[in-house]
Amino acid sequence: MNMQSKLVQFDMKTGLSPDVKSIQRKLSQMQGMYADEGARSLMEAADDVLVYEFHDMHLPEQAGDIAFGTSITYPGKVGHEYFMTKGHFHTILDTAEVYHCLRGNGYLLMENPEGDWEARELKAGVSVYVPGRYAHRSVNISDDEPFITFFAFRADAGHDYGAIESKGFRKLIIEQNGRPAIVDNPKWK
Ligand code: NI
Repeated sequence: MNMQSKLVQFDMKTGLSPDVKSIQRKLSQMQGMYADEGARSLMEAADDVLVYEFHDMHLPEQAGDIAFGTSITYPGKVGHEYFMTKGHFHTILDTAEVYHCLRGNGYLLMENPEGDWEARELKAGVSVYVPGRYAHRSVNISDDEPFITFFAFRADAGHDYGAIESKGFRKLIIEQNGRPAIVDNPKWK
């Protein structure tokens, strides 16, 4: 089968594509992901807000293909911990990814199974190269603006959420004295 080229629009203000329905994650789908599960549960009961959304383009996923889309993490905090994506490893672990920030201010938090970790701050116009073997998560540190990135990676890489859903990342990004701080995750073992 011959693949045809494809045009996709992304709105630079919202990060959303009018052509493809986004995948949404609300607070109720983030159970156990934040250090303060009690705070998350209370927030969810009051208002089950949208934490993040992202696009899957439904394009072919063979070894030579590239998957791409946008990721939008909304401003907010659970306790002192900023709103973030769940984060994932790639199932084919040694596959890299690029994130380019279109709007807002946040971090890409990364860690590999060997215990190395990195946190890179992104602003509009800045790209980060996430090396193979590194799990990655977006964290929004702004109080009033969505953190919007465009990402691209090898399309057959796959997503592995398992390890992160059970113990999280080694580090948390929280607000401390009005500024982001990177601290140890008390739940990580
Ligand atoms: Ni990825």
